[in-house]
Formats: sequence, structure tokens, C-alpha cells
Amino acid sequence: MTPDEHNGPACNIGMERKLTEPCSIIIFGASGDLTARKLIPALYHLFKDQLMPPAFRIIGFARREKTDDSWRQELRAALEEFSRTKPVDEKVWGDFAANLSYCRGDLTDAAAYDALEKKLSGFQSQPLRRNLLFYLATQPSQFGVVIEKLHDSHLLSHDGHPGWQRLVVEKPFGHDLQSAHSLNGELTRFAQERQVFRIDHYLGKETVQNILMFRFSNSIFEKLWNRNSVEYVQITVSERLGVGERGGYYEEAGALRDMVQNHILQVLALIAMEPPVSLEAESVRDEKVKLLKSIRPLRPADVARQVVRGQYFAGVVNGEPRPGYRQEPKVKTDSNVETYVALKLLIDNWRWSDVPFYLRTGKNLPMSASEVRIRFRPTPSVLFAAQCEHKLDPNALTLRLQPNEGISLRFNGKVPGLSVGVRPVRMHFSYDSEFGAYTPEAYERLLLEAVAGDATLFIRRDEVETAWQIVDSIRAGWSGKALSNREFYAAGTWGPVAADDLLAQSGHAWHEPLVIA
Ligand code: BG6
Repeated sequence: MTPDEHNGPACNIGMERKLTEPCSIIIFGASGDLTARKLIPALYHLFKDQLMPPAFRIIGFARREKTDDSWRQELRAALEEFSRTKPVDEKVWGDFAANLSYCRGDLTDAAAYDALEKKLSGFQSQPLRRNLLFYLATQPSQFGVVIEKLHDSHLLSHDGHPGWQRLVVEKPFGHDLQSAHSLNGELTRFAQERQVFRIDHYLGKETVQNILMFRFSNSIFEKLWNRNSVEYVQITVSERLGVGERGGYYEEAGALRDMVQNHILQVLALIAMEPPVSLEAESVRDEKVKLLKSIRPLRPADVARQVVRGQYFAGVVNGEPRPGYRQEPKVKTDSNVETYVALKLLIDNWRWSDVPFYLRTGKNLPMSASEVRIRFRPTPSVLFAAQCEHKLDPNALTLRLQPNEGISLRFNGKVPGLSVGVRPVRMHFSYDSEFGAYTPEAYERLLLEAVAGDATLFIRRDEVETAWQIVDSIRAGWSGKALSNREFYAAGTWGPVAADDLLAQSGHAWHEPLVIA
């Protein structure tokens, strides 16, 4: 086979090299963790890979006293730890850091925004002064005031004239439908919805994006992607880490709000949605919203049957002793917050009617892995009945989102030899072996898209609110009830037994995420 026949031509649909105009990126809450851990390393790598606009500036805005130089030094030190490529390239860093400056100010102080405006108007070129990406890495309770002040100081305008202005906002995006609704109201008071880019870092993951490519660029799978062929779908996002230092946040969130409302429902929407009419942001997001709206609403009685929550107690994860959730710092000793949740959802549409979608996520589980497993219906076992004690293993397709990113297909094959034995075998595709180790951080992709003005990978207002509706109905079903004994699990195990019962009712079982050596 020639290399071309083997690899086939690549079709670049323009996701890689976006046309980006010169702009300034202003990070509010710049002295926080996110800036040092994620944002600056991502921007540094975009610059290194020559994906940043031809001219750009990055301004950190925060309350702490710092100079441009001391901020740069801090970020350089953090890059040492958080950069995905080592060692840091000093020449690249030097050129990149020349574009960084710091603006000290209180988020509520109008004078600080005047200083910011003054700094921006000192930039030579018009696009650097008027193409503005405001990254709100602050508490959501501060979004409203930041946007109001930006508007008052004429840095943010509804129609983005002249140039463009965009707002990038981080989760948590509300804590229920009502709060998300009012947060959306604050965001769109002085900006249009199309100027708002709500981040869900899962959408920046290479493999999550690949769901769309995989589904809609292969005719063989899409034909099977429906109730006629699929018996059930499992989405697992398991984490080996416990809550650790984040007890304060977690007490307000819990696994349902922290992971299901956003990341898991997003993955579900991409897996189950109809083909969009184009890859434009609105077409893709229309289909995701349509899918989320087709999820059968859960009444309290359904929650009791279809949702299992859990909380870890002390145990051992990978040989390391872990405290129970109630012993973690800043956690109430009688907390009922869930660190694990498993649920069965049904999608009331033509394609998926009666196909269970099982979702689960938890902290302090035996491994960190995210995957989607599509389990196909079994064949009638007449032909091999005599040879197989049990029914033949049905086919399964696994999209490995992380780690060992790739796709695996399980099918049955003959065991070599003179007897007629049949057993499941697997075919694995791995990103690393096919394309080499290229794993850009989700934030690199997302920042690039925001600078380019493509909102496909960001969450639209109606998506957020529809997802909250689903989560709120589950919380209403729990209605402040304390956890029962069956809802606890030892750290280092796969969650409470009740989660196994949830699937056993339908004759199904959870599958451990695939580990590819
Ligand atoms: C975050 C959650 O949004 O996602 C964390 O707040 C969680 O609790 C994290 O650990 C998981 O992300 P990833 O990329 O490590 O799977």
C-alpha cells in the first residue's frame, strides 16, 4: 500500500488555523489559580505554535499590588510547573512575555476601569484598542459588576462597534435554573448573547470534538446509531482524586452540579444529537439543545428509581489511604453532599426511544478515565448456541475520551484451532500511535476559538438553562433527604452498590473503563 492509500488524504475543515485579528485579552481575576495554571500556559503554547494573532496584548487585572515585571516573573515560575511541554523555551517565553502587562484595580472601582481604558488607548494599533476579549476568571457573583463597569467606561458595547468585544465566562454557571437565568440576564444586560462565550473545558478536549467527526464522517457507524441497533449507552467520568482542598466549593456543588450539569450532559448531547445542518455554532448548538429537551423529565418518583448518589468514606486508592469526604477540610462532618452520582436517562425521540443512557461520575474511584460505551444489541444466538454456554458477547464501541485517547471496537471472533470456539476480541485505535503524542490542552483550543469568534465549542444560554432544568428536577427528588447507608462507598471502589442495582434492574452492568497498555 502506498502511504496515501494507507493514510488517505486529510481534509482540513479549518478548525486548526483560524483567522485571528489583532486583539487584547484582558483577564479579570488575574492573580487567581486559573490564570497561572491554565490560561497563561495555553496562551504561551498558542504563541509557540504561531497560532496567536499577528499582534496581541494580554492584560492581567486584579486587586493585588504587582508590577508588570513581578506578574511576568510569577507566571514564568508557574509555567515551569504547568507547561505541557518542558523545558520552557526561554526565547519564546521572552517574546511572549513582552506582550503581558498588569493593571491593578478593584473590580467595583470605576477608576480602575478608567486606568484600564487608558492602558488600552496607549496601544498603537486600533485593533489592539478595540478588539477586546474579556476573560472573567472571577467569582460569578462579580460578573454583573464587571460588565456594568466595562459598559460604563465604553470598553464593552452591545454592537461591538468599532471592532469586537467578547466575554468569556467560567463555570460554575449558576447553581440552579433560577440563578443561571439571572446570571444570563446580567451577562446580556450590556452585551449580546453572541458576545458571550461560556466555557465548558470538556468541549475543548480533542476526543470530545472527535465525537462529531467520528459520527458524521463515517457511514458505517451512523447507520447503527439508533434504537434498532443500540441496547444502551454508558458514559463514565471517573476520577481517582478526592475532593482534597476544594471542600468549600464542593459543599455548595456536589457531583451532580460539578460534573453532570455541564461536562457529562455535553458529552451526552454530542453522542445522541441529530446531525446538524452545518458545523456553524448555531446549527450545532440548536441540535444539542433539541437533544437536551428530549430527555424525559424526571419526577421525584423517577429520581428514586433512576438516580443514585453516593459519598465516599475513608479507603485506599491505588495503595494510598484517603480520608472520607466528611473528614476533608471545609466539609461539614454530617454533610450529605454527593461525591458520586449515577443515573439512567431516557431520550424521548424517534432515534433513541427506550434506549437507556447510563451516566456516572465520582471522586476517589479506582481510576481516572472518561469514556463512552455504545453497547449494541446481541445477535440471536441460534447458530452458536451449542458451542456457547452463555449468550455471545454483544458488540461494543468505546470512545476513550481520556486517558489513552482513542476508539475501541469489540466483536466476536473464532478462537484458532480445530474446535469451533467464539470469543470477544478488540480492535483499538489510539491517537498517540496514529498521530503522535499531540495533546493540546483544552484551554488552548477554547482560547483560540474565542479569539477567532467561533462559538461552536461554547455553551449557549438555552443549553445552560435546559441542563439546569434536568439537574434541578433531580435535586428536587432528593429534597434534602439524608444519605442512606446504601449510598456510601469506600474510597477506591466503584461507587455505592445501589449504582449496580440501578443497571441490574434492566439486566445490565457497569463496565470498567478500558485500559490500553
Ligand atoms: C471540573 C470539576 O470542571 O472538571 C472538577 O470542577 C473535575 O471537579 C474536573 O475534577 C475534571 O476535569 P478533567 O479534565 O480532569 O476530566
